[in-house]
Amino acid sequence: MGENRDVETLLKKYNQEHIIQFINKLDNGKKVDLINQIQNIDFNQLTELYENTKRKVEIKENKIESIQYLDKSKLTYEEKEQFDKIGERVIKNGQYAVVTMAGGQGTRLGHDGPKGTFKLDVYGKGKYIFEILTENLKEANKKYGVIIPWYIMTSKENHEATKSFLEKNNYFGYNKNNVILFKQGELPLLDLNGKLLVGKDYRVKEASDGNGGVFSSLRSTGMIADMKERGIKWIFIGGVDNVLAKLADTILLGMTIDKDLQIGSKSVVKANPHERVGVFCKMNKHPKVIEYTELPKKMAEEVDSNGELRYGESNIACHLFSIDAIDKISKEVLIYHTAVKKNSYINEEGKEIIPDEPNAYKFEAFIFDAFDLFDNMAVLRVKREDEFAPVKNKEGVDSPKTAKELYEKFWNRQKS
Ligand code: UTP
Repeated sequence: MGENRDVETLLKKYNQEHIIQFINKLDNGKKVDLINQIQNIDFNQLTELYENTKRKVEIKENKIESIQYLDKSKLTYEEKEQFDKIGERVIKNGQYAVVTMAGGQGTRLGHDGPKGTFKLDVYGKGKYIFEILTENLKEANKKYGVIIPWYIMTSKENHEATKSFLEKNNYFGYNKNNVILFKQGELPLLDLNGKLLVGKDYRVKEASDGNGGVFSSLRSTGMIADMKERGIKWIFIGGVDNVLAKLADTILLGMTIDKDLQIGSKSVVKANPHERVGVFCKMNKHPKVIEYTELPKKMAEEVDSNGELRYGESNIACHLFSIDAIDKISKEVLIYHTAVKKNSYINEEGKEIIPDEPNAYKFEAFIFDAFDLFDNMAVLRVKREDEFAPVKNKEGVDSPKTAKELYEKFWNRQKS
């Protein structure tokens, strides 16, 4: 009873009284569950996150400069040889691991299940996204004579589904001991009035805290320790949804090491000066991915002496970090961004509402905000048609249809 009252006080204090009636309706088991969950919410942090949604992003006086990059297709034979050699050595020595971030909700795709379990309609029979990623890793293993440890970040929401899918498919032939699943952290969702949402299971709706949550969860779940124990020195971190991602690219690895840097990342050239993508730059002397909304129009259109966009290197979420960089970042707090997403919930009558429009704030840290903690990073420009086929939306751009076309065209080119 006492616990009940404490929770009521807490909910009232933070304007979340609507939850009280749900608590009162529940039988004992579920009631305890919900109370426990509420007691673990950091309401101060949540209040601050909600207040931030009302604030206009202030664009401070920032010094924005372009960042140097190398174009993979324009490397000299010697450069390519050198990078390859350095990268190969790391992989062959068993010092390389891959992290796939698969904790997202995939709301835009609307697939029933984790995004990696989506079957892309390629070559008639189709292939699951996880299957495509596995094939890529297996090919690297064969080439370098190793088994690359593959860490998959899931969310509380999709962990079990991801695990049972991979088990059912026998990890697509990957050595099971080298596929390690770990869960990322979560934050509650808030409706547009700052109220907590309750789901069908009578729990407060929470969602993963963004792909930037990868660093702290690698630490808290013991993955950094596991990597160190295995002697891992370099880690590629990418999203689950790029079916053309090269998971073991010796050029990116060799280039980053050769330049004595701790982070590397790939870019593709912006389709046009006003494409709505984040681009690499330096801000206040530190590397950064700047959102299109933050890049002044004049800068977005600026070209260099070769006629190339000065701020044209867009981020494709193919990142490389040294283990020391991950160790360092995992102890820092990254800022949270707000996204408005569609999330179902139950109303006061207990009826499930499935919204047609985005109805809830989701708070997410972004992986690239970590770049700012370093003085420099390596940026490797790659060809969009060779390395970037994202599956984001149900239809239109970056959809299964466009990804299928890009995937098949790429593999047909390799065959011919
Ligand atoms: P996106 O930002 O594209 O989000 O994630 P999403 O969840 O896949 O899709 P929408 O926006 O709901 O439609 C980019 C990558 O980061 C991962 C995703 O799984 C994807 O690989 N991610 C995103 C996480 O691992 N955790 C998160 O909390 C968010």
